[in-house]
Amino acid sequence: MSSPVASLPADWYHREDMFLREREQIFRKHWSFVAPADLVDEPGRFVTAEIGGVSIVVCRDRNRTLRGFINLCRHRAAPLCSTHTGRIARFVCPYHAWCYALDGTLLQAPGFDPGMDMAQHGLIPVRVETWNHLVFACLATKGPALQDWLGDIVDIARNYPGVGQMEFETICSNQCPANWKNYSDNSAEGYHLSSVHGELDRSLVAGETRIRAHEHGQFIGFEVAYKDGSGPGYWICKFPGLLMHFSRNSINIEVIRPQTPVSIEMHRWFWFLPEVTKRDRRETIAFSSRVMEEDIGICARVQKNLETGCHETGILSPQREPGTIFFQSCVRNALS
Ligand code: FES
Ligand SMILES: [Fe+2]
Repeated sequence: MSSPVASLPADWYHREDMFLREREQIFRKHWSFVAPADLVDEPGRFVTAEIGGVSIVVCRDRNRTLRGFINLCRHRAAPLCSTHTGRIARFVCPYHAWCYALDGTLLQAPGFDPGMDMAQHGLIPVRVETWNHLVFACLATKGPALQDWLGDIVDIARNYPGVGQMEFETICSNQCPANWKNYSDNSAEGYHLSSVHGELDRSLVAGETRIRAHEHGQFIGFEVAYKDGSGPGYWICKFPGLLMHFSRNSINIEVIRPQTPVSIEMHRWFWFLPEVTKRDRRETIAFSSRVMEEDIGICARVQKNLETGCHETGILSPQREPGTIFFQSCVRNALS
């Protein structure tokens, strides 16, 4: 048996300076899931999203090239788009009506010298790429391409139906009064399954869950077998804030967005194969929501204790919590 590993210091779970560092050095450096690619399949269609506190907009331009920009007018920083999705011919700023083409070029700046260098004031680009009919964006101008960042996930996903074969069902949003690492520590281990998630635990074949940390893609993979014969499933907890659940007939993706040092938003997207009945879809989503409520409950209660100053650090079991150990090592490495 290997020795326990010290967990991250408790004050990292509520300090404002840590939150700002993590936002800058982790969330703004990694790729983030933005939206299903269907939402930007035509020129002019756009979606907005938030990455590390920064609002971005992704659209398809007139040449059908996918484009990403900071959602910010170069005049005096007003956000250009205020809805989650939409269709436009060009970006028109709601503040003083500066106008930009879908490729980000500044077209008009009313009242400014017509000789001004428009090329200096185009929208700030953001990297965008798609994988599995899903749009991702990254604020960092350098760093791995999307598929390198996903690493082994690309091969694992090939064992399951792709998003392109499925129907999008719905998106659910939740909030949790906990630091993002508290919630991810929980998502990265199966140790709490039998005590926190009785119903989920009973749905799995005992002894058939295999958990493995993958360096290539920085994620923890859970291979699971369902008792109802619905085939094997694969759950992914990807650093820093992406969860994916693949099964034989559905996929769901969850994005964890830190809002403050002590609160997060979670957004879940669900897809199903066309033959899955409405009733089964509703039950799958309701089940996922019950599991999430259980996690929100335990993380919120842990968070209160982490903030008391009564707990400096805990210990993690290499046998039962290898995923959490791996996840926390990713945090340490990113901040070192
Ligand atoms: S801030 Fe956009 S036009 Fe003024
Ligand atoms: Fe859980």
